[in-house]
Amino acid sequence: MSRKRVAVLISGRGSNLAALIRAARDATYPAEISLVLSNRTEAAGLSIARTEGIANEVVDHTVFGADRSAFERALQQALDKHGVELVCLAGFMRILTADFVNHWHGRMLNIHPALLPAFKGLDTHRRALEAGVKIHGATVHFVVPETDSGPIIMQGAVAVREDDTETTLAARVLAVEHRIYPSALRLVASGRVRMRNARCQISDAVVPAEEFIVPKA
Ligand code: GAR
Repeated sequence: MSRKRVAVLISGRGSNLAALIRAARDATYPAEISLVLSNRTEAAGLSIARTEGIANEVVDHTVFGADRSAFERALQQALDKHGVELVCLAGFMRILTADFVNHWHGRMLNIHPALLPAFKGLDTHRRALEAGVKIHGATVHFVVPETDSGPIIMQGAVAVREDDTETTLAARVLAVEHRIYPSALRLVASGRVRMRNARCQISDAVVPAEEFIVPKA
């Protein structure tokens, strides 16, 4: 089996990157993390890549000013140099142009800390608490030009507790992120995900039968 060459794009902490690296240590995992790219020199996730001996590069967006295309050409050059086949955005906080996104159509994944299509954008946990939702979570989806809108590959949910704060809720959702991102990448890298009419179909998907109702009556 040839493992898919994956680049993980980060801007900060890199805990999802760490989860992907951990999963890819398993020899049967269908992807390997070949490159870590950051748009920020000080991203903590870069040191995770260095410790793991994974190729890492910084493409500092501030150097390119408002020229998004030049920034993305530099990203693309790094991806090409490392023979990257799949891209995982993991806390990468730059908006990408339609040209770049379309070039990677069906080959670029993102993780978003909410159950899309609810709570697109930033501050998802604060907004979920304000809205009073009882179930919240995270989504792995393919990237399309419209932000946080691509076909959904996998979601994971948590119950919202009466005493939750943004911090406690974020921590439980993050734990879910660390489970679903490696699993979603496994599905994509092994060729089990097809996009059809802007939706994902997963072959041989195992779907648990139980309901998830919060609160318990
Ligand atoms: C994660 O919670 C991810 O879902 C979120 O940023 C965090 C990055 O954490 N992404 C977004 O908000 C994208 N709009 P990490 O660097 O520890 O993986």
